[in-house]
Amino acid sequence: MSMVTRAWQALEAHAETLKTTHLRGLFERDPGRAERYRIEAAGWLLDYSKNRIDDRAVALLLDLARAAELEAWRERLFRGERINHTENRAVLHTALRDRSGGVLEVDGRDLLAEVRAERERLYRFAEAVRGGDWRGGTGEPIEDVVNIGIGGSDLGPRMVCEALAPYAEPRLRLHFVANIDGEDIHDVLQRCRPERTLFIVSSKSFTTQETLNNARAARQWFLEQGGREADLAKHFVAVTANNRLATEFGIGREQQFAMWDWVGGRYSLWSSIGLPIVIALGPAGFDALLDGAWAMDRHFREAPLEKNMPVILGLIGVWYNNVLGFQTHAILPYAQRLARLPEYLQQADMESNGKSVDRAGRPVERQTGPVIWGGVGTNAQHAFFQLMHQGTKPIPADFILFRESRAPWPPHQRMLLANALGQMEALMRGKTAEEVRAELAGRGVEGAAAEALLPYLVFEGNKPSNALLAERLEPKTLGALIALYEHKIFVQSVIWNINAYDQWGVEYGKQLARGLLEVLEGRAPAEGYSGSTLALLARLRGD
Ligand code: F6P
Repeated sequence: MSMVTRAWQALEAHAETLKTTHLRGLFERDPGRAERYRIEAAGWLLDYSKNRIDDRAVALLLDLARAAELEAWRERLFRGERINHTENRAVLHTALRDRSGGVLEVDGRDLLAEVRAERERLYRFAEAVRGGDWRGGTGEPIEDVVNIGIGGSDLGPRMVCEALAPYAEPRLRLHFVANIDGEDIHDVLQRCRPERTLFIVSSKSFTTQETLNNARAARQWFLEQGGREADLAKHFVAVTANNRLATEFGIGREQQFAMWDWVGGRYSLWSSIGLPIVIALGPAGFDALLDGAWAMDRHFREAPLEKNMPVILGLIGVWYNNVLGFQTHAILPYAQRLARLPEYLQQADMESNGKSVDRAGRPVERQTGPVIWGGVGTNAQHAFFQLMHQGTKPIPADFILFRESRAPWPPHQRMLLANALGQMEALMRGKTAEEVRAELAGRGVEGAAAEALLPYLVFEGNKPSNALLAERLEPKTLGALIALYEHKIFVQSVIWNINAYDQWGVEYGKQLARGLLEVLEGRAPAEGYSGSTLALLARLRGD
């Protein structure tokens, strides 16, 4: 029997013994629990004591990590080995925020030097836009910056720009267009003046249908509004790894910023794909974002597994997903500006670990990536928390908190934090029948009336959560938080022995969409589709 199989069996056996243990009991019996189940790194504190684990569960999870050779895989990642084996690529988003000033040689090239050189170009351009020195065709400074991209070429920059809006250059307005639903670009263009607008066409592959069509629409709009062909170079830049296609599209090499095939789309906000962030925050702000991620990278690479934040978060997720059989994981930022974090992490996690074939091409034997979802607190409390408290599905959750807020309303921040703590405590403790009876008696409800209400007011509790706490939402802490989740995703992919860095599953739907577009446009016959699709096509075409 392999060491990995043995580790899984030991975990499963231990889960049986923990089945009847309530989190309340774990806290009552172990006063040092909160102190012990806590890690600090890169400006973040992780309190993982409200999880359905004990010391033995943690030890067995660490055994599993060692059996899966997590430490060796971690080195392969950082050194730039081609761990994305189905695309024969290295996975080096960590190189983009390597602040050591050192050398990272891969295939005879110093990647860090290339990264630094390209970033300098990016910074120079962003400074010119920010300072009003980059002028449009009529000599006016840029006021509106429109990022056209989708997936990894949209979600990261959009989430970070929203999260760090108080740090942004106030003279500039940033817009993001992703969807091929024409309403998306229509709404944005209505708010822009062509002579003061800069479009960033952001696509690693430069083949993505949504992005290319939105970019064509933007160019058409620019020309229809009186812009001149000769001025396109002042209003359109590209971020891409495919220089040939960007040039064919009409964006010259001087207006292209580099992306590399060793950066996955969903891990790319640290690269030139982060141009909207650099324009918003300036080089110093972007540097701080990178610094935060680099601090988390070093922690992940150097800290022993048992004191390693991404490792512990990843292993707790494995415990719920594979051993206790929970299917989903909620991301709950208690910060309005992080409202887009759940959506960002959906791509990061679900596109990475939504796999069912292992690294040897065999069907996996265990569950892989969980369903990631969530929402911003406190709003989510008034939406889906009822199901978390009293529904039938256990939902582990990450509560993300900041001690301070930049908003000039200190009482609001205290209320926000009190709510987060209250929810975590309630999920964990629950409320027993005795406690409910006493509460009802205090309100004068007793006897049969109290007993009839009782079942509805009892909370089972024992619902797990992690608390992630930082001082404030700023570039550095945000960079570290994103890197934390990136590494957590990697840790889980190693345990499940899957490749987190390809995404073949996304391609099939795109392929069918291309054929169906031809049918909708009357260029191809409606053949070879299911009865359902044929009927929908007929309705859409008005046949
Ligand atoms: O959704 C699939 C995907 O390939 C993502 O992985 C990627 O982030 C997105 O499309 C956009 O790709 P590109 O940057 O090449 O346009």
